[in-house]
Amino acid sequence: MKYPITVYGDPILRKRAEDISQNMEGLSEIIENMWETMYYADGVGLAAPQAGLPIRLFVIDGSSGAEEEPELKDFRKAFINPERLELTGEKWVMNEGCLSLPEIREDVTRPDSVRIKYFDENFIEHDEVFSGFIGRVIQHEYDHLEGKLFIDYLSPLKKRLLKSKLNDIARGNVQPHYKIKIPVK
Ligand code: NI
Repeated sequence: MKYPITVYGDPILRKRAEDISQNMEGLSEIIENMWETMYYADGVGLAAPQAGLPIRLFVIDGSSGAEEEPELKDFRKAFINPERLELTGEKWVMNEGCLSLPEIREDVTRPDSVRIKYFDENFIEHDEVFSGFIGRVIQHEYDHLEGKLFIDYLSPLKKRLLKSKLNDIARGNVQPHYKIKIPVK
């Protein structure tokens, strides 16, 4: 089942998502649906609040970064209850997009590496450092669980220039190729 994707203006994207308990009913089905939704929307990652679920979960398929980083060819992971422990490394700029901000792409500066603790689908705990492209995507998806969007990193001027585009998204005046949930007015 594909979820409609929540977009800018939906309050769920501004709330801190809640921890998942190990015996949560239907979790593996939710993860399956998240993959299906992400692939159909051509996303590299998808966080649960973007699927309308206020829980701490995101999925990432890093294979689109494999041209520059071949080891990402088979990178496909679900992150449950992630906890960001440290951001390190030199900052660099990447042009980011987000399924919840259709038709907007902007340069965002972030540190290179992120250390996170998380559980995988089998509820096995991991503590790992991710850098480069995946480090970037994890930081972006993790932000979704904290109620943060990449536009929050932009300068006030850049944000002002995006204002009307953002208003359009919040009113549902946008037509991405995937199904969205129009925020309630
Ligand atoms: Ni996003």
